Amino acid sequence: MAEKTQAKETLKPSLSLFDATALSIGAIIGAGIFVVTGIVAGLAGSALVVSMFIAALVSLFTAISFAELTKVLPKEGSVYEFAYQLISPSVGFLAGWMWMLSNTFVGAAVSLGFAYYLSALVPSLPVNVIAAIICLAFTVLNLVGIRQSALLNNVFVVTKLLILVLFILFGLAYVKPANFAPFAPLEIGVLQGAFYIFFAYAGFARVAVVAEEVRNAEKNVSRAILLSLLVSTIFYVGVGIVAVGLVGAGKLAGSTSPLVEAMNATENSFIVLLVSFGGLIATASVLLTSILGVSRVTFAMARRGDLPKTLSKLHPKYRTPHYSVWTVGLLMIFLVLFIDLGSVVAISTFASLFYYAIGNIAALKLKSSRRGNFKRLMSALGTLTCVGMLAFTIFVSLQSWVIGSAGLLAGMGYYAAKTKLAKNV
Ligand code: ALA
Repeated sequence: MAEKTQAKETLKPSLSLFDATALSIGAIIGAGIFVVTGIVAGLAGSALVVSMFIAALVSLFTAISFAELTKVLPKEGSVYEFAYQLISPSVGFLAGWMWMLSNTFVGAAVSLGFAYYLSALVPSLPVNVIAAIICLAFTVLNLVGIRQSALLNNVFVVTKLLILVLFILFGLAYVKPANFAPFAPLEIGVLQGAFYIFFAYAGFARVAVVAEEVRNAEKNVSRAILLSLLVSTIFYVGVGIVAVGLVGAGKLAGSTSPLVEAMNATENSFIVLLVSFGGLIATASVLLTSILGVSRVTFAMARRGDLPKTLSKLHPKYRTPHYSVWTVGLLMIFLVLFIDLGSVVAISTFASLFYYAIGNIAALKLKSSRRGNFKRLMSALGTLTCVGMLAFTIFVSLQSWVIGSAGLLAGMGYYAAKTKLAKNV
């Protein structure tokens, strides 16, 4: 009977290495580069590229840990599964819980980002309603199947990368070296900027969440994690240099659509329109992969009984965890009606630093025979940098500490109540 249930709850491995890499790039490049770059320019000034490098380095330490973990445990649910098996069930639960918290907020935020970009093009549109509609549309798409979601994601990823290539190449001709002065990479603002732009890299391990749906997962998932981070870093650094060179950090800082602001300097309205379109596509792809990711972590947790079992049921025809997908989609729709775009970046980063730190600790628990000293050093640095940034959050956004900790306490409360209930039955 147990085997029959297990078979019924088995997902199909249908994603290639290309799909897998695109899935993580789909999750990475979005509101971070298209919107948060403005906040970072305000903090780091023309040294914003240095903030980007620092955030990329912190991401790389953690990405190496996740890449190693997926080689050993290519399981749906990612850090939930890693921590559950390598640290303890309760830590696994909390990692999964914070993963859901972080990415539900990301999904809601990028839906709003999408709506802001759209309403900038068509000003009369009501922002919250648009955000709710786009959430609903992508929830339905995620219900139909991962293959369809991945195909649309591939189109989104190729489109947004092409638009960013155009941004870099076309913009380069208009760069003014004077816009980089003054350049102060040693100011504290550069570190604060790194905290914010870290949001832009979040998503590099998204593919690990759907590992059971990737072909040859033991190899392809870890390759996809590292490839997606490399591609995104190259694009971010290119975009950062060109954006500052076009208009200077001061102008970027004052804008909620900094890349459009930068492109305005070229006075080419077609390219400006194209960059706005890029903002729409990029936020849409992050939303698509957020719903996908949260629904799969929920599925993995429910499959083991850490969340209500119903959430692990697969749709008889589409083989997707339909109750999980609906729950996540409806939660995001609810949030977009109340959310504040600025603070959500910090709350989501707080939650992701928490589960990234746990992922690094789980990697340190892997048998040393499997890993060389270099990889262990990377995981140790990953743990230190994530915990350090988590502590640093207090100085950047106290609100994210309060809300993030409240979310963590709620998770602990749920787990304690569930464990007590199970003992009494
Ligand atoms: N990295 C994602 C973004 O920038 C969360 O939208």
